[in-house]
Amino acid sequence: MQKIYTVGGRRLTGEVRLSGSKNAALAILAATLLPEHGRTTLTNVPRISDVETMLETLQHLGVRVQHSDSNTVTLDAGTLTSHEAPYELIKKMRASFSVLGPILARYGQARVALPGGCDIGARPVDYHLKGLERMGAQITVEHGFVHAAAKEGLRGASIYLDFPSVGATTHLMAAAALADGITTIANAAEEPDVVAAAALLNRMGARVRGAGTKEILIEGVRSLRGVEYAVDPDRIEAGTFAVAAAITGGDLYIRGAIKEHTEPVARKLMEAGADVRYDDDGARVRLPPGRSLKATTVEASPHPGFPTDMQPPFAALLTLAAGTSVITETVYERRFRYIDELARMGADIKTKANAAIIVGVPRLTGAPVAGSDLRATAALVLAGLAAEGQTEVGGIKYLDRGYEDFCGKLQAVGANVRRVEDGDKATEKVAA
Ligand code: EPZ
Repeated sequence: MQKIYTVGGRRLTGEVRLSGSKNAALAILAATLLPEHGRTTLTNVPRISDVETMLETLQHLGVRVQHSDSNTVTLDAGTLTSHEAPYELIKKMRASFSVLGPILARYGQARVALPGGCDIGARPVDYHLKGLERMGAQITVEHGFVHAAAKEGLRGASIYLDFPSVGATTHLMAAAALADGITTIANAAEEPDVVAAAALLNRMGARVRGAGTKEILIEGVRSLRGVEYAVDPDRIEAGTFAVAAAITGGDLYIRGAIKEHTEPVARKLMEAGADVRYDDDGARVRLPPGRSLKATTVEASPHPGFPTDMQPPFAALLTLAAGTSVITETVYERRFRYIDELARMGADIKTKANAAIIVGVPRLTGAPVAGSDLRATAALVLAGLAAEGQTEVGGIKYLDRGYEDFCGKLQAVGANVRRVEDGDKATEKVAA
């Protein structure tokens, strides 16, 4: 199994350039199925395995995909050749389930495998299916597949989401873009990823209003056309490197950080003692010399709340913050699996219902640990950057799903971190 080895104790300093947003890119890629004319060229697409999986799914459906460079991809959905997305692809990456609506909107029928759960929760898709039914789709679920039909096409409907689901919001927005009539989505997700997907749809000729608020209105149009679109920098990657700066007592310039996307995390970093200053091109994050981290409380909740994807990395930071911190998770039912791994590194941390109680300790010690999902694994690497001695982090296939060149970017700002392929002798790789 590939591993990351890190030896803590180095202050990270210098500049990190953010890659494109994984979650915005995945919603946008699903929407590239919609145009029947013209090609869509996406720039600043992150080079990560989740994007590769989504591109594989689109190609399986007949989309012609061309990479002009590692972060630019052109897609032509003019003539789809299949309306089925197999389990092998959907199980690799649940967001590919969102091809269902666009296929249905274009071809009147679709057969897409149900995504499974994952380590952070059951992650059902009932809001997605209910919304499509409201738009006139006949939905049956059998043998692990969703069969959807809308022979007369989808029609506008009023939809209410029981929870502001990001995936359901972007998925239903895309399906509604070609529906006959007006669709409203109430209690919609307000994440920047929704705003990005709406901006792409509108550039394609759709009529989406209200993205970024709780009420989105989509007036269906007859067809959409391919466009050019640049993916925003990744706000969760920004938060991850901001924590890397604070947890190592360092000073990083995070190029590409957008204030309105990252402010919920910035505010909590400042409460914990870090300094965060934005300029037009990014943000400088540092723990001022002589200042130590201090405990705070965090509630992971839908945007504009503190993002759940930053909950594990932020918990790693708070293990070294003087006092008692409490992190409450309101989005997923089991996103604390990494806690036991942090405890192996000396953290004083325990969970109680949907909260983690963290009593700050003066230091962490390196240990062999393993992440169980993308953000948990990132959190363990961050803890390793501050721990005494060597930390061996397993589960880095998860990291590759959502962080482009995570190790390389950390090394470039001074981290003593090495990625070790299976069988390599790690000890030679990590200088003391
Ligand atoms: C997106 O997942 C992100 N993934 C997640 O990021 C992120 O944690 C999540 O939004 C919340 O911000 C992508 O964008 C690819 P949800 P999504 O639908 O859309 C429940 C990462 O690390 N729910 O907002 O799948 C669900 O179980 C990943 O980058 C239903 O009950 O999340 C969860 O408890 C992890 N029924 C809550 O809503 C549904 O039909 C929020 O899920 C849909 C969701």
